Amino acid sequence: MSDTASASTPIVEFRNVSVRFGAFTAIHEVTFSIHDIPGHGEFITIIGPSGCGKSTLLNLIAGFLKPSEGEVLVNGKPVTGPGRDRGMIFQQYSSFPHLTVLQNVLFGLELDKLESNRAERLRKAENILEQVELTAHKNKYPHQLSGGQQQRVAIARSLVMEPKILLMDEPFSALDEPTRLEMQELIVNLWHRIQPTILCVTHNVTEAVYLGERVWIFSHAPGQIAYDIGETIPASIGIPPLVAQERPDFKNAVYVVTEAFRRVSDN
Ligand SMILES: Nc1ncnc2c1ncn2[C@@H]1O[C@H](COP(=O)(O)OP(=O)(O)O)[C@@H](O)[C@H]1O
Ligand SMILES: [Mg+2]
Repeated sequence: MSDTASASTPIVEFRNVSVRFGAFTAIHEVTFSIHDIPGHGEFITIIGPSGCGKSTLLNLIAGFLKPSEGEVLVNGKPVTGPGRDRGMIFQQYSSFPHLTVLQNVLFGLELDKLESNRAERLRKAENILEQVELTAHKNKYPHQLSGGQQQRVAIARSLVMEPKILLMDEPFSALDEPTRLEMQELIVNLWHRIQPTILCVTHNVTEAVYLGERVWIFSHAPGQIAYDIGETIPASIGIPPLVAQERPDFKNAVYVVTEAFRRVSDN
C-alpha cells in the first residue's frame, strides 16, 4: 500500500468518467469504486453488447487512454499512464516471437529497475511458469506452442510483475472450448492463490458467471454499468467449470445475467 493510500482507499475508482471520440460518446459518466479486500482481490467480469465501451474502460485503468471528463484513480492516485501495478492480457497472444518462453517471462523483470538480482529474476520467472504449468515448455519459442499455451505465456508475463490489478480483454475468445475451460479453471486458481484485483471482459455469460464474483453488465449508447450483480453469483474456486455449470445456483445466476443482458440489448 502506498503512503497516501489507506485501507479505505479504493484500488480502482471512477468519478463521473466520460470518454468521447469526436462527437461520439463511448462511455458516459461512469462512477464506481472497487476495494482491495485484504487477502482477497475482487474478480469482476464485464459483459455487454459489442461496442458499448468495455475495452475503453479497461484501457482507462491501464493508462492507455485518458478520460474526456472525470477522474480515473488507482490506489487513490490519478492514472497518468501505464505502470507495473497494472497488467493487461489481450485476446491476441502478445509474446515476443524471437524469445523463448522463459526469456519472454524474464523480459519485463529485466526492464524493471526494481529487480536487479539475476538469480532472483530467474527464481520468480520459473516460479510463475510452474504456476501456469509451462515448466516443461520453458525453452520453446511461441510458435512451437498451442494457443492455450501461448495465452499461458502472456498470463505468466503479466503475473511475474506482481500487478495489483489484472485487466483481461476477452482473453480466451480465440481458444477452442476444451482449452477455454482449462484456462478458466487455471485463472480462478491463480486469482485465489495470488489475489490480484481482476477485471475481465468476456462476451460469454457462462464464462462471466464462472470467473467472476461480480458481473457487470454494460449498456450502450452511452456506455454505462447498467447492472452490478454480486449476490447471486456462486463461488467457483476449486470447482471445474463443467461441474460448476451443472449446479442449480450456477444455472440460476446464468439465467439472471442473461435476462439482464437481454434487457440492455433491447434498449
Ligand atoms: N480510438 C477510437 N476512435 C474512435 N472510436 C473509438 C475508438 N476506440 C473505440 N471507439 C468506439 O467506441 C466504442 C466503444 O469501443 P470499445 O470500448 O472498444 O467497445 P467494446 O470493447 O465494448 O466492444 C465503439 O463504438 C468504438 O467503435
Ligand atoms: Mg472490446
